[in-house]
Amino acid sequence: MKKSSSTILLSNLTGLITLGVLLLLNNLPVYSQEVSTRLPIPPLLDYELSRDGTKVFELVADEGEVQFFNGVSTKTLGYNGNYLGPTIRVRRDDQVSIDVENRLSKPTTIHWHGADVPAESDGGPHQGIRPRRSWTASFQVRQQAATLWYHPHFIETTGQQVYEGLAGLLIIDDDDSDALMIPDEYGVNDIPIILQERRFNQDGLFQYRPRMPDVVHGYFGNELLVNGAIKPYLEVSRGLTRLRLLNGSNSTLLQLRFEGVESVYQIASDGGYLEEPLALSRIILSPGERVEVLVDFRTSDSENARLIAGTNGGANYNAMEFRVGTQISEYQSVPDTLIPIKPIPESEAQLTRRFELQSGMGGRMLINGKTMKMNRIDERVRLGDTEIWQIINRDGSGMGMMGGMMNQPHSFHIHAVQFQILDINGEPPPPELSGWKDTILIWPGDQFRVITRFQSYPGVYMYHCHLLEHEDNGMMGQFEIEGD
Ligand code: C2O
Ligand code: CU
Ligand code: CU
Repeated sequence: MKKSSSTILLSNLTGLITLGVLLLLNNLPVYSQEVSTRLPIPPLLDYELSRDGTKVFELVADEGEVQFFNGVSTKTLGYNGNYLGPTIRVRRDDQVSIDVENRLSKPTTIHWHGADVPAESDGGPHQGIRPRRSWTASFQVRQQAATLWYHPHFIETTGQQVYEGLAGLLIIDDDDSDALMIPDEYGVNDIPIILQERRFNQDGLFQYRPRMPDVVHGYFGNELLVNGAIKPYLEVSRGLTRLRLLNGSNSTLLQLRFEGVESVYQIASDGGYLEEPLALSRIILSPGERVEVLVDFRTSDSENARLIAGTNGGANYNAMEFRVGTQISEYQSVPDTLIPIKPIPESEAQLTRRFELQSGMGGRMLINGKTMKMNRIDERVRLGDTEIWQIINRDGSGMGMMGGMMNQPHSFHIHAVQFQILDINGEPPPPELSGWKDTILIWPGDQFRVITRFQSYPGVYMYHCHLLEHEDNGMMGQFEIEGD
């Protein structure tokens, strides 16, 4: 097992603290009367097998209502329910089709974040579903076991729709993941954890009205939802429990740490397993990023095991509690190795493209000086090519274009592929970022080089900052994969 390198962590921490001080909000919760609830587990979505062996799933996006606080109803959105959506679980090589019905009053789309799917099934801004219409995504699963997720991606309204509850997990299994000796019973010792910071107003309603400073610096909240519940608890046995963590916030960066547990090991990043479990004490997740961890509760004192989430808005949440029973888990030790990762050699790359992320005038968020245009293809990539993408956060130093000091983190997500990080400011990535990634957090002034093979399908895909208010305000571009 490796130890997490602390240099990057330290600079990240300093970043968080500086931002916390800069952007400190009044984060006093409006309510003290939380519903003390067991952690809700999104149900696994059933499917029908069609005659040709396709797994057919159905999702319905609709309006709903949830009591996040005792006696107060909040208007929400959800898939097949009031808030969030069911977990879709598929296997490598599966032929999958997912029918999506839009019962909202607004157009939506549904995007499979992290998945290698044909462009017309990607669910990006070009695959809008009008109210009372349906749409079907069809694809074969041809990537390794990973925790992916799905969410709306309609142009300029992604932030709003995700905020009100539209999101769910998409889990891929394969033979290699089956062979690992790690907890894999969904909802029992293999637990999905969707973390979302939200702002509730005095009436207990979601308040989503980002103004210009919120757009630029982040739409911070006053509560942290865990699978749609406030400060829930989960019963765990003595031994290892696996958690699949997703930061489902719009723009809040989370710094996670476990208290009262023996140890925590990261086993997977966005697109699949690490090569070996990595002992760590803190996890930094930007919106859209996932990690899987094994948490060791062997010696936990039942009253004190908890997950703490700090934010770059200055909040510190007691996110959830773990009630450790007397039952002994059959998983007592972490495996020595997980899944090998073959580095993509730099010499294989045909070219390097450069992407500069920067805040512009009037809350317009720019990539290479441009905001997103639906009818403009920004980059053309040849199917099968290997490329290096160099991504730079230009909101790092000196005077920003807004006239003040800009010190704003961004992130970068590429559709259709998983990539490897070659270097960060010229240094090799720390072990927690050495696996397959589809979304990276880029601190002010930092530069990443990532490498990937564009082996997906011909068609138009997106790349963007995954801080949703940035994405909705222009920090997105389109690349077309061109086949021959
Ligand atoms: Cu999770 Cu283009 O997004
Ligand atoms: Cu995506
Ligand atoms: Cu951004």
